[in-house]
Amino acid sequence: MAEKFDVIVIGAGPGGYVAAIRAAQLGLKTACVEKRGTLGGTCLNVGCIPSKALLESSHLFEEAGHDFSKHGIKTGKLEVDLSTMLKRKDAVVKQFTGGVEFLFKKNKVTYLKGAAQITAPGKITIAPSDGGAQTSYEATNIIIATGSDVISLPNVKIDEETIVSSTGALTLKTVPNKLVVIGAGVIGLELGSVWRRLGAEVTVVEFLDRITPGMDEGLSKDFQKALEKQGVKFKLGTKVTGVEKGKKSHIVSTESAQGGSPESLDADVVLVAIGRKPYTEGLGLKEIGVAIDERGRVKTDKQFQTNVKGIYAIGDVIIGPMLAHKAEDEGVAVAEIIAGQKPHINYDAIPSIIYTAPEVASVGKTEEELKKAGIEYNIGKFPFTANSRAVANGNAEGYVKILADKKTDRVLGAHIIGPDAGTLIAELALAIEFSASAEDVARTCHAHPTLNEAVKEAALAVDKRAIHA
Ligand code: FAD
Ligand code: NAI
Repeated sequence: MAEKFDVIVIGAGPGGYVAAIRAAQLGLKTACVEKRGTLGGTCLNVGCIPSKALLESSHLFEEAGHDFSKHGIKTGKLEVDLSTMLKRKDAVVKQFTGGVEFLFKKNKVTYLKGAAQITAPGKITIAPSDGGAQTSYEATNIIIATGSDVISLPNVKIDEETIVSSTGALTLKTVPNKLVVIGAGVIGLELGSVWRRLGAEVTVVEFLDRITPGMDEGLSKDFQKALEKQGVKFKLGTKVTGVEKGKKSHIVSTESAQGGSPESLDADVVLVAIGRKPYTEGLGLKEIGVAIDERGRVKTDKQFQTNVKGIYAIGDVIIGPMLAHKAEDEGVAVAEIIAGQKPHINYDAIPSIIYTAPEVASVGKTEEELKKAGIEYNIGKFPFTANSRAVANGNAEGYVKILADKKTDRVLGAHIIGPDAGTLIAELALAIEFSASAEDVARTCHAHPTLNEAVKEAALAVDKRAIHA
């Protein structure tokens, strides 16, 4: 007879593994199925963690080459040992994927290895990756957390060697001379930055007339200027019509997004980074009647339940930003819902961060969104050049911008470009979560000298009373 669980989670990414751990904490008999061979999903294996490891290594190289001398630190000739850099990244990944396995054991989550298919409500089969016999399991609740996959261009075949997605861009064996990145979104700019810092000439081709669409427009323009200053070239309003594969280098053909003006670019590596799509292959959703929307996402209600009772979905495979922390929060929430609790996620308070230098971080509404909604707002802006810690650190590019409701002073959005923006934004996510006003943030004592004082000053600037600018 098939073993029966209270909960079976399909997929062990940040959504799935967190859901499994939380369900087990709540006393539910839980299993998590993963076909990759290691736990942690896209994020730990080929996403957030390896990309951040390489961003840090390449940032250190850039700092040592350009910034140390300003601090009176002399270096000899610097060299990149790419193989060591990649090995360090792999070790970081291994530490965390192994860490999730440890957490499963600690919380008594059963780890089922293989590809899951839902054969009927409450029933799944698992095909092990070694081709062995299928096993069947039953579960009162099934959580689909199968994540997302790379979107490819119809006329560009990804080989993960010289025409790569983010996955191949994390394992290049040599630094490319010329890297063409297709798509000026988060992946293109983070991984483009890694390889530019290590010595590649980087050109980013973007279909739209701006980079990072969706980001507050002012910030996006300043971000583009900052990257251009570092040597990244942009071809905006441009589409790639094909990549002709040569032995040593490739020819990337482009034309204007509206058509016409054909041009070509030389590249020894091409990175395709035009977005990700929900992944539901082989799950058997169509056969059991689970509804999918026009963009391939699994449809759910506010309780994350699909149209089939007892089948839930979370993370990249459903609507919303494709972010690890969004998936994690949904993982906790769905487990608590299954256990009879009433959790809540505030989708207005989900921060998003681009881990370049300068870092870029946002939470809540952009100016464009507020204008569109007809909401009147005040802006408080404070530059890092007026923040003593940023100047002492020698890294004072950028600013903090807070958008607060004109009538109530409630913080509606916050956008930061500059040092440690990704860490600084947490305070403003908390402000939005607690419906704080800009005055609340301004009245909170911020330690001196810290970068966080720029947040306090921006909050004061909402009422035109910043002290230091
Ligand atoms: P995933 O992490 O995609 O996990 C789904 C898992 O399900 C996979 O391991 C897959 O093998 C498994 N699976 C699929 N189908 C089956 C099946 N039938 N049976 C068994 N297993 C199955 N987000 C951030 O917040 N911060 C970042 O810095 C960041 N950096 C990123 C960098 C890159 C290069 C990429 C590609 C993504 C990055 N992301 C980042 C996005 C982040 O990785 C995703 O939002 C997150 O991983 C989504 O989690 P998930 O659990 O929904 O899905
Ligand atoms: P994205 O959606 O961020 O950016 C894709 C870009 O490609 C857009 O600017 C889009 O206009 C452009 N584009 C689309 N089609 C194109 C075409 N044919 N030619 C030229 N440009 C084209 O997607 P990306 O960068 O691939 O990232 C995927 C997801 O991964 C994102 O949703 C993001 O949330 C997540 N991610 C998050 C990170 C973080 O939080 N720091 C880091 C990396 C990824």
